[in-house]
Amino acid sequence: MTVSARITGTGRYLPERILTNQDLERMVETSDQWIRERTGIRERRIAADHETSSSMGAEAARAALASAELDPREVDLVIAGTCTPDGMFPAVASRIQYAIGAPHAAAFDVNSACNGFLSAISTATQFIGTGAAQHAVVLGTETMSRILDWSDRTTCVLFGDGAGAVVLEAAQPGEPGRVEAPLLRSDGSQASLLYATGPCTPGQAGIEAEARLVMDGRAVFRSAVNAMADICSDAIAAAGLTVDDIALCVPHQANERILAATAKQLGLPMERVFMNLDRYGNTSSATIPIALSEASDEGRLQPGDRVLLTAFGGGLSWGAMVLEWSGVRAPLATAAVAAGARAS
Ligand code: UT7
Repeated sequence: MTVSARITGTGRYLPERILTNQDLERMVETSDQWIRERTGIRERRIAADHETSSSMGAEAARAALASAELDPREVDLVIAGTCTPDGMFPAVASRIQYAIGAPHAAAFDVNSACNGFLSAISTATQFIGTGAAQHAVVLGTETMSRILDWSDRTTCVLFGDGAGAVVLEAAQPGEPGRVEAPLLRSDGSQASLLYATGPCTPGQAGIEAEARLVMDGRAVFRSAVNAMADICSDAIAAAGLTVDDIALCVPHQANERILAATAKQLGLPMERVFMNLDRYGNTSSATIPIALSEASDEGRLQPGDRVLLTAFGGGLSWGAMVLEWSGVRAPLATAAVAAGARAS
């Protein structure tokens, strides 16, 4: 399936507080060397007490709208990928829809954990493809720090907080910009490998319950490499392309070793794989839109480029798609907004 849809704006928001590997050495039995060598992560951002997935998402959405030079009143769809909502409901997307001033927009969340952004943008693509929406804001936004067990060294060193957003619009005839082969997969039989408990978990103490992330890292690692390599091959083939046509892969940022093994299996050189996990760790559904925003601001994406997106996470769920990049309208706006957010 190919839909004429273009990303006209990208934005991101990272909380100001930095938690380094050295900071973690003082919290659990770990070392900077272990974390760097096993994951590639050096530091991650942690939300302030007043920040939530919706407040960070609203900042990222505003930056994306500025970069798309789009009036929020033109937005008719807001979809947020998140597995760390402010509360059970209302949806994070509804809170963002209000915060950015988009009174005409439908708004809902999708939760497929780290694959949330790909599920969200696949859904928005269908809305645009059928004409049901013209201008969508699509996000990944997460406050992972609130569901981590900070005494569990096997998980707490991996994750961070942040938000990324894109504006996705219908491409007019003759304009560049396509979403090709959005593929999504799930294997619920492997749910126990990566999950988070919450107030609706049987046996939990209702509203007293705390959300807690649990992961069998080694098993998830093995599944992630094979699943992402396979679905990327399928998406590239479904788009009628070969791996040589891919200008840049912007993958979910969980572990540098996972990305290297996946790229090797695909035959994709690492120079064409975008990575920023050294600075942010795994921000779950937010990794891809944050990375897209940085890649765009750094000039690593040119109009006409074929861009491969892929993710893997709890569910298990995973996905891939190929974008024909159209170029954002005001590329530096996001950098200015993100820098302003960092400085504030
Ligand atoms: O976002 C999608 C979902 N998440 C992922 O994709 C993550 C997938 N998994 C991974 O990235 C990796 O499996 C980890 C980074 C989580 C772990 O790396 P690993 O190379 O698979 O290590 P391991 O789990 O096999 O553990 C090796 C050793 C163990 O000690 P023993 O049993 O060999 O004595 C662990 O107890 O490393 C130990 N270890 C640590 N040591 C220092 C585990 N965590 C830590 C730590 N610091 N933080």
